[in-house]
Amino acid sequence: MFIALDGGDGSGKGVQIGFLKGWLAEHGYDSVFVRDPGDTPLGDRIRALLLGDSTVNICPIAEAALFMASRAQLVYDKIKPALNAGKVALVDRYLLSTIVYQGYATGATEDEIAELWRVGTVFAQGVLPDLTFILDCPPEECEKRLAREKDRIEARGIDYHTRVAQGYRMAAASWSQHAPGEVFVIDATPSPLEIFEKIKTILESRIR
Ligand code: TYD
Repeated sequence: MFIALDGGDGSGKGVQIGFLKGWLAEHGYDSVFVRDPGDTPLGDRIRALLLGDSTVNICPIAEAALFMASRAQLVYDKIKPALNAGKVALVDRYLLSTIVYQGYATGATEDEIAELWRVGTVFAQGVLPDLTFILDCPPEECEKRLAREKDRIEARGIDYHTRVAQGYRMAAASWSQHAPGEVFVIDATPSPLEIFEKIKTILESRIR
Protein backbone atom coordinates (compact mmCIF):
# COMPACT_ATOMS: atom_id res chain seq x y z
CA MET A 1 0.00 0.00 0.00
CA PHE A 2 1.26 3.41 -1.01
CA ILE A 3 0.02 6.41 1.02
CA ALA A 4 0.75 10.08 0.28
CA LEU A 5 0.09 13.08 2.46
CA ASP A 6 0.00 16.42 0.70
CA GLY A 7 -1.12 20.00 1.32
CA GLY A 8 -0.01 23.61 1.39
CA ASP A 9 2.90 24.91 3.42
CA GLY A 10 1.81 25.25 7.04
CA SER A 11 -1.16 22.89 6.61
CA GLY A 12 0.09 20.71 9.49
CA LYS A 13 1.42 17.85 7.36
CA GLY A 14 4.35 17.18 9.67
CA VAL A 15 2.15 16.49 12.69
CA GLN A 16 -0.15 14.17 10.73
CA ILE A 17 2.85 12.30 9.29
CA GLY A 18 4.00 11.75 12.87
CA PHE A 19 0.58 10.33 13.85
CA LEU A 20 0.49 8.15 10.72
CA LYS A 21 3.95 6.72 11.39
CA GLY A 22 2.94 5.96 14.97
CA TRP A 23 -0.33 4.32 13.89
CA LEU A 24 1.39 2.12 11.28
CA ALA A 25 4.04 0.99 13.77
CA GLU A 26 1.45 0.33 16.50
CA HIS A 27 -0.58 -1.83 14.14
CA GLY A 28 2.45 -3.83 13.07
CA TYR A 29 2.73 -2.58 9.50
CA ASP A 30 6.26 -2.77 8.17
CA SER A 31 6.53 0.66 6.61
CA VAL A 32 8.98 2.98 4.93
CA PHE A 33 8.67 6.75 5.24
CA VAL A 34 10.15 9.24 2.78
CA ARG A 35 9.81 12.91 2.00
CA ASP A 36 9.65 14.37 -1.49
CA PRO A 37 11.82 16.12 -2.57
CA GLY A 38 14.88 14.53 -0.98
CA ASP A 39 15.73 11.37 0.91
CA THR A 40 18.30 10.10 -1.60
CA PRO A 41 21.82 11.51 -2.16
CA LEU A 42 20.69 12.97 -5.50
CA GLY A 43 17.36 14.13 -4.08
CA ASP A 44 19.02 15.94 -1.19
CA ARG A 45 21.22 17.88 -3.61
CA ILE A 46 18.26 18.76 -5.80
CA ARG A 47 16.30 19.74 -2.67
CA ALA A 48 19.09 22.11 -1.62
CA LEU A 49 19.09 23.65 -5.09
CA LEU A 50 15.31 24.09 -5.14
CA LEU A 51 14.68 25.15 -1.55
CA GLY A 52 18.01 26.37 -0.21
CA ASP A 53 19.32 29.90 -0.45
CA SER A 54 20.82 29.24 -3.89
CA THR A 55 20.81 32.27 -6.17
CA VAL A 56 20.57 30.08 -9.28
CA ASN A 57 17.67 31.24 -11.45
CA ILE A 58 15.26 28.35 -12.08
CA CYS A 59 12.45 28.81 -14.61
CA PRO A 60 9.08 27.11 -13.87
CA ILE A 61 9.50 24.18 -16.26
CA ALA A 62 13.05 23.49 -15.03
CA GLU A 63 11.71 23.62 -11.49
CA ALA A 64 9.10 20.98 -12.38
CA ALA A 65 11.79 18.85 -14.04
CA LEU A 66 14.03 19.02 -10.97
CA PHE A 67 11.24 17.97 -8.61
CA MET A 68 10.47 15.10 -10.99
CA ALA A 69 14.13 14.02 -11.18
CA SER A 70 14.37 13.96 -7.39
CA ARG A 71 11.18 11.88 -7.27
CA ALA A 72 12.46 9.48 -9.95
CA GLN A 73 15.45 8.63 -7.76
CA LEU A 74 13.24 8.32 -4.67
CA VAL A 75 10.95 5.84 -6.45
CA TYR A 76 13.94 3.87 -7.72
CA ASP A 77 15.90 3.77 -4.46
CA LYS A 78 13.18 3.60 -1.82
CA ILE A 79 9.52 3.46 -2.83
CA LYS A 80 9.60 0.69 -5.43
CA PRO A 81 11.80 -1.62 -3.30
CA ALA A 82 9.52 -1.05 -0.28
CA LEU A 83 6.35 -1.83 -2.23
CA ASN A 84 7.95 -4.83 -3.90
CA ALA A 85 8.85 -6.16 -0.44
CA GLY A 86 5.19 -5.86 0.59
CA LYS A 87 5.79 -2.87 2.87
CA VAL A 88 3.64 0.19 3.32
CA ALA A 89 5.23 3.28 1.76
CA LEU A 90 4.28 6.61 3.31
CA VAL A 91 5.36 9.80 1.55
CA ASP A 92 5.36 13.42 2.65
CA ARG A 93 4.30 15.05 -0.68
CA TYR A 94 4.47 13.45 -4.13
CA LEU A 95 3.57 14.13 -7.77
CA LEU A 96 0.45 16.03 -6.69
CA SER A 97 2.71 18.75 -5.25
CA THR A 98 4.28 19.27 -8.68
CA ILE A 99 0.84 19.42 -10.31
CA VAL A 100 -0.24 22.06 -7.80
CA TYR A 101 2.90 24.16 -7.19
CA GLN A 102 4.45 24.03 -10.68
CA GLY A 103 1.09 23.65 -12.46
CA TYR A 104 -2.06 25.23 -11.04
CA ALA A 105 -0.23 27.85 -8.94
CA THR A 106 1.66 29.13 -12.01
CA GLY A 107 -1.56 29.52 -14.01
CA ALA A 108 -1.17 26.35 -16.14
CA THR A 109 -4.02 25.51 -18.54
CA GLU A 110 -5.97 22.26 -18.26
CA ASP A 111 -3.93 20.86 -21.19
CA GLU A 112 -0.69 21.75 -19.43
CA ILE A 113 -1.97 20.15 -16.22
CA ALA A 114 -2.79 16.96 -18.12
CA GLU A 115 0.70 17.04 -19.65
CA LEU A 116 2.30 17.46 -16.21
CA TRP A 117 0.35 14.46 -14.90
CA ARG A 118 1.52 12.41 -17.91
CA VAL A 119 5.19 13.37 -17.72
CA GLY A 120 5.09 13.16 -13.93
CA THR A 121 3.74 9.62 -14.10
CA VAL A 122 6.59 8.64 -16.43
CA PHE A 123 9.18 10.09 -14.03
CA ALA A 124 7.46 8.29 -11.14
CA GLN A 125 7.85 5.10 -13.19
CA GLY A 126 4.11 4.54 -12.96
CA VAL A 127 4.32 4.23 -9.17
CA LEU A 128 1.44 6.34 -7.87
CA PRO A 129 -0.26 6.30 -4.45
CA ASP A 130 -3.25 4.10 -3.62
CA LEU A 131 -4.39 6.73 -1.15
CA THR A 132 -3.70 10.46 -1.12
CA PHE A 133 -4.75 12.74 1.74
CA ILE A 134 -4.82 16.46 1.05
CA LEU A 135 -4.75 18.76 4.07
CA ASP A 136 -6.96 21.64 3.00
CA CYS A 137 -6.02 24.80 4.85
CA PRO A 138 -6.96 28.44 4.08
CA PRO A 139 -3.68 30.17 3.05
CA GLU A 140 -4.10 32.94 5.65
CA GLU A 141 -4.34 30.30 8.38
CA CYS A 142 -1.35 28.36 6.94
CA GLU A 143 0.67 31.56 6.79
CA LYS A 144 0.11 32.13 10.54
CA ARG A 145 1.39 28.63 11.30
CA LEU A 146 4.63 29.18 9.35
CA ALA A 147 6.26 31.17 12.12
CA ARG A 148 9.79 30.42 11.01
CA GLU A 149 12.18 31.42 8.24
CA LYS A 150 10.62 30.59 4.89
CA ASP A 151 12.29 28.60 2.10
CA ARG A 152 12.39 29.69 -1.56
CA ILE A 153 8.90 28.39 -2.30
CA GLU A 154 7.23 29.28 1.00
CA ALA A 155 8.42 32.86 0.47
CA ARG A 156 6.34 33.26 -2.72
CA GLY A 157 3.59 35.23 -1.01
CA ILE A 158 -0.09 34.91 -0.30
CA ASP A 159 -1.30 35.11 -3.95
CA TYR A 160 0.81 32.11 -4.96
CA HIS A 161 -0.27 30.16 -1.88
CA THR A 162 -3.92 30.99 -2.51
CA ARG A 163 -3.51 29.46 -5.99
CA VAL A 164 -1.79 26.47 -4.34
CA ALA A 165 -4.83 25.93 -2.06
CA GLN A 166 -7.23 26.27 -5.02
CA GLY A 167 -4.99 23.99 -7.07
CA TYR A 168 -5.29 21.17 -4.53
CA ARG A 169 -9.08 21.36 -4.72
CA MET A 170 -9.03 21.45 -8.54
CA ALA A 171 -6.66 18.50 -8.69
CA ALA A 172 -8.90 16.52 -6.32
CA ALA A 173 -11.97 17.36 -8.42
CA SER A 174 -10.39 16.07 -11.65
CA TRP A 175 -8.42 13.22 -10.03
CA SER A 176 -9.88 10.25 -11.89
CA GLN A 177 -9.07 11.84 -15.27
CA HIS A 178 -5.37 11.82 -14.48
CA ALA A 179 -4.42 9.42 -11.72
CA PRO A 180 -5.33 6.05 -10.25
CA GLY A 181 -5.98 5.60 -6.54
CA GLU A 182 -8.22 7.55 -4.22
CA VAL A 183 -7.93 11.11 -2.97
CA PHE A 184 -9.45 12.64 0.16
CA VAL A 185 -9.57 16.34 0.93
CA ILE A 186 -9.34 16.75 4.70
CA ASP A 187 -10.25 20.02 6.41
CA ALA A 188 -7.04 21.06 8.18
CA THR A 189 -8.61 23.66 10.48
CA PRO A 190 -9.77 21.46 13.42
CA SER A 191 -7.32 20.25 16.07
CA PRO A 192 -4.54 17.86 14.93
CA LEU A 193 -6.19 14.96 16.79
CA GLU A 194 -9.56 15.59 15.16
CA ILE A 195 -7.88 15.72 11.75
CA PHE A 196 -6.09 12.46 12.42
CA GLU A 197 -9.37 10.79 13.49
CA LYS A 198 -10.68 11.42 9.96
CA ILE A 199 -7.51 10.17 8.29
CA LYS A 200 -7.46 7.10 10.53
CA THR A 201 -11.08 6.18 9.77
CA ILE A 202 -10.38 6.23 6.03
CA LEU A 203 -7.10 4.39 6.44
CA GLU A 204 -8.66 1.63 8.57
CA SER A 205 -11.26 0.99 5.90
CA ARG A 206 -8.66 0.75 3.12
CA ILE A 207 -5.49 -0.80 4.48
CA ARG A 208 -4.93 -4.52 3.98
P1 TYD B 1 8.23 20.31 2.36
O1 TYD B 1 9.12 19.14 2.45
O2 TYD B 1 6.81 20.15 2.81
O3 TYD B 1 8.87 21.53 3.09
P2 TYD B 1 9.25 21.65 4.59
O4 TYD B 1 10.55 20.90 4.75
O5 TYD B 1 9.39 23.13 4.73
O6 TYD B 1 8.10 21.05 5.35
O7 TYD B 1 8.14 20.79 0.87
C1 TYD B 1 9.11 21.47 0.28
C2 TYD B 1 8.59 22.59 -0.60
O8 TYD B 1 8.67 22.20 -1.97
C3 TYD B 1 7.18 23.03 -0.35
O9 TYD B 1 7.12 24.45 -0.35
C4 TYD B 1 6.42 22.54 -1.56
C5 TYD B 1 7.46 22.48 -2.63
N1 TYD B 1 7.25 21.45 -3.68
C6 TYD B 1 6.99 21.84 -4.97
O10 TYD B 1 6.90 23.04 -5.27
N2 TYD B 1 6.84 20.88 -5.94
C7 TYD B 1 6.94 19.55 -5.66
O11 TYD B 1 6.80 18.70 -6.57
C8 TYD B 1 7.22 19.15 -4.30
C9 TYD B 1 7.34 17.70 -3.95
C10 TYD B 1 7.37 20.14 -3.33
